[in-house]
Amino acid sequence: MIKSILDKFNTDKEVSQDEIVKLLDSDDNLLFEYADECRKKYVGGEVHLRGLIEFSNICKNTCKYCGLNCFNKKLERYRLSEDEIIDFAKKGFEYGYKTIVLQSGEDSYFTQDRMVRIIKEIKKMDVALTLSLGEKSYEEYKAYKEAGADRYLIRIETTDVNLYHEMHPKMSYEKRIECLKNLQKLGYETGSGCLVGLPNQTIESLAKDILFFKENNFDMIGIGPYIPHPETPLWTGTDTQKDKEKRFNLSLRVMAGGRLVLKNINIPATTAMETINPKGRIIALQSGANVVMPNITEGEYRRKYEIYPDKICINDYPAHCRNCIESKITSIGRTISKDYGFRNN
Ligand code: SAM
Ligand code: FES
Repeated sequence: MIKSILDKFNTDKEVSQDEIVKLLDSDDNLLFEYADECRKKYVGGEVHLRGLIEFSNICKNTCKYCGLNCFNKKLERYRLSEDEIIDFAKKGFEYGYKTIVLQSGEDSYFTQDRMVRIIKEIKKMDVALTLSLGEKSYEEYKAYKEAGADRYLIRIETTDVNLYHEMHPKMSYEKRIECLKNLQKLGYETGSGCLVGLPNQTIESLAKDILFFKENNFDMIGIGPYIPHPETPLWTGTDTQKDKEKRFNLSLRVMAGGRLVLKNINIPATTAMETINPKGRIIALQSGANVVMPNITEGEYRRKYEIYPDKICINDYPAHCRNCIESKITSIGRTISKDYGFRNN
C-alpha cells in the first residue's frame, strides 16, 4: 500500500505531508528498504564515526523529559576540567576519530572565553569539531565558529509549538528557531532533529518535523526515541517493553522518512535507539543512517551523564567502544570512513 508513495521519492514529484503521515503510520518494512537504497545512492556505504565527549551534566534548563534537568536533585553533577576535555579529545584523535563532538548541559561555567580556549586547542589536532551546548547568543556562536568549530547540533525536539512549550517550561520555540538560523548564517554545518514518542505528540506533527528539516535544509538530523526517566516530571511510574518498542519503531520510521526526504544529509544511528534495542544502531544503519557517535568520555562521567535510564556502554572504555562498533559495522558489509564526513563528502 505504501509502495506507490515510496516510488514517488524516485521521481521529481513532491511527497505531501499526508503521504508522509501514511508512511509513518504503516507497519510496512518496505520504508526501511527504500531508505537504505536512498542512503546507498546519496551517501554511499561509508559510516562516519564521531567521538562524543559529554563534558558537563550541569544544566540550567527544565526540559521535562531530560534527566539532566535542573530539578533533578538525585543526579551527581560533574564538569570536566579544560585539561580533561582536551586530553579526551586527544585520545579520541589517537583512536582514529576524524570528528570530535563536545556536548553538555547548559552550564554557564563554560563561558565564551573558556570554550574558545578549548575549541582552539582541539582544532590544533587534525579533526573536525562539532558542538552541542544548547542555546547561545549570536555572538557566542560567532566566537566559537571563529575559534574553529565546524558543526553545531541543536534539535528542535518538536515542531508542534504548543507541545514544545509544554515540554520546555520557560523556554521559547522562537528562540530555538533563531538559534538554528544564526548557526546557519554563521556557516556552521547545522544539525537538528527531534524526539519521537513524547506524550501528546501526533504522527502529523512528526511528519511536519520532517518537512521542517527539509525546508531548512539541515546538514544533519538526529532522530531518537523518547526514553522516560524516573527523575523527570514526565515519569508516569512505569515504562513497559511494549511502549519502548513502539517508540523505537516509530523513531526508526521518522529517521527513514527523513532520509528519503532530505537524501544526502548525515543521519546518526542514535544511542537512544540502541538503549531500547540491543541491535538498534545496526538496524538504524540499515534503515537510512550513516553516522555513529561512540562515547569517548572516560570513567564515572559516562554513568553520570544520565539523560535517560539504562544508557548503553556506561561501564565500557573508549577503546572497547571503538572496536565494538567497528566490528558491528564491518559485519554488515559497511566501512568506516577515513575522512571528516562533512555533508556531500
Ligand atoms: N544541552 C544541549 C541541548 O539541549 O541541545 C545538549 C544536551 S541534550 C541532553 C541532548 C539531547 O538529548 C536533546 O536534544 C534531547 O533530544 C535528548 N534527550 C534528552 N532527554 C532525553 C530522553 N529522556 N530520551 C531521549 N532523548 C533525550
Ligand atoms: Fe539541559 Fe537536558 S535539561 S541537557
